[in-house]
Amino acid sequence: MDIDRDRFRARYGPWAFIGGASEGIGEAFADLLAAMGLSVFLVARHGEALERTACRLRARHGVAVRWRAIDLASPRMLAELRPELDELDLGLLVCNAAYGAIRPFLHNSFEDLNAHLDLNCRAPLLLARYVAERLQPRGRGGMIIMSSLVGFHGAAMLSTYAATKAFDTVLGESLHHELRSQGIDVLVCVAGATRTPSYLSTAPRYGWLRPSEHEAERVADEALRCLGRKPLHIVGTRNHVTLQLLRVLGRRLASRLMSTSLTRIYRDKA
Ligand SMILES: NC(=O)c1ccc[n+]([C@@H]2O[C@H](COP(=O)([O-])OP(=O)(O)OC[C@H]3O[C@@H](n4cnc5c(N)ncnc54)[C@H](OP(=O)(O)O)[C@@H]3O)[C@@H](O)[C@H]2O)c1
Repeated sequence: MDIDRDRFRARYGPWAFIGGASEGIGEAFADLLAAMGLSVFLVARHGEALERTACRLRARHGVAVRWRAIDLASPRMLAELRPELDELDLGLLVCNAAYGAIRPFLHNSFEDLNAHLDLNCRAPLLLARYVAERLQPRGRGGMIIMSSLVGFHGAAMLSTYAATKAFDTVLGESLHHELRSQGIDVLVCVAGATRTPSYLSTAPRYGWLRPSEHEAERVADEALRCLGRKPLHIVGTRNHVTLQLLRVLGRRLASRLMSTSLTRIYRDKA
């Protein structure tokens, strides 16, 4: 399935906003969107990394690039971004940045728990509300909300991250059905293990059974190809099959298996 670049640009351009765009999957989204001729507005906390990405994208693709160093977990995030976003003809929102601490539940401080909620739930919720209102009068546009396989079942060691990703999945699926009649396409992109700096920093210790690990470019590419075609996309055939098998086992057994496996993989953090 190829992307018709002109159609994509007409439907989701001219500007795309990418939250968490300086590395990993977010950077891959920025690269692919710029390659299709969209102008991109990049957001992350660290300005130097954003500036490097912005310079690279301008040089490689010749598109307009803006960036802003801001903490998307801040309660003032939308108020701070709004004046700049209001100026842009925004066609696409990518909610990508997330926080996920791998540790037993009781090892989280109250601040850690809030950090999950702030970045993984409040930020996509408020950005989706803002962008939907902007897109509604145009009658076209899109949103991609990044989620995770662990959002389908409870999982020890990742309880809070898993729960916030369940929120993202349900939010995106709901918005898909609610906004499609207004010309707004919403896709939940469910990734499994993806070789990004964030993921690699967790140093998983796999045994003989390794999950399939994807590159960030593949995740972003699949998401962009599926936008407008379905509510939810699971990246990679093996992840898809794994999820089907877990469904057949039922929630109780599935979450037990996920929990046992994560506790083993991250035994040094238990
Ligand atoms: N990698 C995986 O294995 C995997 C698996 C399943 C799902 N996912 C999902 O895919 C998405 C992307 O994952 P990822 O692995 O690429 O890493 P990530 O850590 O979610 O994203 C990294 C990007 O987000 C920015 N960022 C982090 N915290 C931020 C904050 N508070 N405010 C603004 N920007 C922030 C980072 O830059 P700064 O540090 O400069 O802010 C960087 O640009 C996430 O939603 C994740 O849940 C990933």
